[in-house]
Amino acid sequence: MSKSADLGLDALFSAAKAARQRAYAPYSRFSVGAAIRAPNGAIYAGCNVENAAYPQGSCAEAGAIAAMALAGERRIVEIVVVGDGEDLCTPCGGCRQRIREFADAATRIHVAGLEGVRASFALEDLLPHSFGPGHLGK
Ligand code: THU
Repeated sequence: MSKSADLGLDALFSAAKAARQRAYAPYSRFSVGAAIRAPNGAIYAGCNVENAAYPQGSCAEAGAIAAMALAGERRIVEIVVVGDGEDLCTPCGGCRQRIREFADAATRIHVAGLEGVRASFALEDLLPHSFGPGHLGK
């Protein structure tokens, strides 16, 4: 299926971009939005929320994962992360591990600019040989 025909991905991108508009990023001025599709088909979005005590800020992915968990969902089918700028706004190291918790081999991680999705990855591409729930027998 071509990207333009994937209405599901279009909707997920739109949700992530809308979430980005709600970012609270007065320190970095770098707004990020994320949107997750769960197996139930629903979309869960989040934005980055910074803090004057810098380390207390949280990433957009963390917010989207929290919304997903609150709804009782435990698996990420796909996630879109939207950030502006020339470089790919790939999830930070910590968020790769956060995604890992709810990902499987089929999970797709789409990285987008304001114009649309730029690249798509599997979790293994971004976090190879990762530690996960299986290591703890879960
Ligand atoms: N940020 C995210 O929200 N997600 C990422 O994957 C990369 C970075 C946020 C954190 C911080 O508020 C701002 O972007 C600059 O690092």
